[in-house]
Amino acid sequence: MTAPVSSRVAAITGAGSGVGRATALRFAREGYSVLLCDRVSCDGVLEEIGSSGGRAEAIMIDLADARCGEMIVGQASKLFGGLDVLIHNAAIGTSGSVETVPDVDFERVLDVNLMAGIRLAREAVPIMRERGGGAILFTAALAGHRYVPNAVAYAVSKAALIHLTRCMAIDHGRDGIRTNCVTPGPINTPMLHEASAVYGIPVEAMRAGMPTGHIPEPDEIAATYAFLASPAARSINGQAIGMDGGMSVGFFSPKP
Ligand SMILES: NC(=O)c1ccc[n+]([C@@H]2O[C@H](COP(=O)([O-])OP(=O)(O)OC[C@H]3O[C@@H](n4cnc5c(N)ncnc54)[C@H](O)[C@@H]3O)[C@@H](O)[C@H]2O)c1
Repeated sequence: MTAPVSSRVAAITGAGSGVGRATALRFAREGYSVLLCDRVSCDGVLEEIGSSGGRAEAIMIDLADARCGEMIVGQASKLFGGLDVLIHNAAIGTSGSVETVPDVDFERVLDVNLMAGIRLAREAVPIMRERGGGAILFTAALAGHRYVPNAVAYAVSKAALIHLTRCMAIDHGRDGIRTNCVTPGPINTPMLHEASAVYGIPVEAMRAGMPTGHIPEPDEIAATYAFLASPAARSINGQAIGMDGGMSVGFFSPKP
């Protein structure tokens, strides 16, 4: 990326809550102009950024809308003059197996979690290429590597995001566009507490199974995104960064 940070632009989906909110605050603190994208109001985040002297605007949008790429990237260009960092972080889940999840629910999960990332990237790539490069980041999940039962649509969408990351890294690396994703296990956000209730797994039990014994806070993911978008990460491309405390390599169990 060639532009100084003070004139860089980041668009972040799911910016109204959890990881997206923390990432928006982090990038604004770093001097980016930030476009907050969510289906819910981002007024609170806008206010927080504004009161600390940052620059942000918001777009309220359902990412299942096939025009989300044009609308979000178009808005970033109109408001801030371009786009340097795209972070597709919003996601939804639905419980069930292939036997029980109807097409309509499966397709909605794929639309929001995967297709929105593809549609956003399709619009972002030419703009980033023109600016000399950029960073595209996806929030995937450990579930895209290692399956958690009864969450087939979510897991498939995240596995596809991990491979999309690799494909885009090769297709667009020579444009100066690096694509990476993170694959967290549990993160302390509203989604985790919702999943805990739906799947009947107490958050404490999840924590106990983590090799580090620590469930990451959203700002830890935000810090990784800030690094991945920075020139210090210029050789990191096509990677899935496991932010799972080691769960991808094994589960902790206390010594007998
Ligand atoms: N929390 C966890 O334990 C965990 C674990 C692994 C991966 N992740 C991933 O982290 C990312 C962020 O999740 P979070 O934990 O911060 O969740 P969250 O529920 O706190 O935030 C998700 C945000 O996405 C928005 N969103 C959902 N559907 C949307 C749509 N159709 N259009 C526009 N916006 C939409 C929501 O309104 C919300 O603001 C997701 O990709 C999730 O899959 C979370």
